[in-house]
Amino acid sequence: MTYSIAIDGPAGAGKSTIAKVVSQELKFVYIDTGAMYRAIGLYMLRCGVAPDDEEKVCALLEEADVSIGYLDGRQQVFLNDENVSGLIRTPQAGDAASKVSVFGRVREKLVELQQRLAEKENVVMDGRDIGTVVLPNATLKIFLTASPECRAQRRYLELVEKGQGTSMEQVMKELLERDYRDMNRASSPLRQAEDAVLVDTSDMNIYEVSQTIIRMFRERTAQA
Ligand code: DC
Repeated sequence: MTYSIAIDGPAGAGKSTIAKVVSQELKFVYIDTGAMYRAIGLYMLRCGVAPDDEEKVCALLEEADVSIGYLDGRQQVFLNDENVSGLIRTPQAGDAASKVSVFGRVREKLVELQQRLAEKENVVMDGRDIGTVVLPNATLKIFLTASPECRAQRRYLELVEKGQGTSMEQVMKELLERDYRDMNRASSPLRQAEDAVLVDTSDMNIYEVSQTIIRMFRERTAQA
């Protein structure tokens, strides 16, 4: 039997930061599913295909083999055996990921990979549809959110730190567009699973959020 913690929520809520801390402390494998959608988005951009062109994206999907591995405990994403982990953390790749993730065929391919990974090990998995679709029987489901202002501010600081010039207005605009697309697509839209616990991180630090989740997980497994 394996344990799994599903963490879903909108962009910039702190999912990956929190999922990494929780997985390290519990010695679980961290699976960042957004990175897989980003790799597919990157593939389409490289092929010169608009990520919202369903016909072309689906036609090229077979050629894009996505897999993951670990280096010093950190998840690496491979696109046709090339490590693209350093190339997918751009606003362009995020936007392309959000666009390709609308298509059912793309989702089927990646959900299958994600479910296979969680079968063998204890995992903390973050994304948009983990609690609702990928791991409906997860041991604990968290819906992580924060106010749009707070999420935009975090994203803005991250980008500035990486030397990627942008403005708060631009970050906020892209964030709201991405939220809208992720929440309103027909195929597994972002929404809180009925049995997920809502955690608003607007006024919480990383330590507080991660400890809250670990405590809930321990309470749940102690009762089982
Ligand atoms: O979490 P992220 O910013 O790396 O995700 C990029 C995009 O990928 C996100 O806007 C929507 C899509 N995505 C998804 O549809 N389902 C997931 N489980 C993870 C990400």
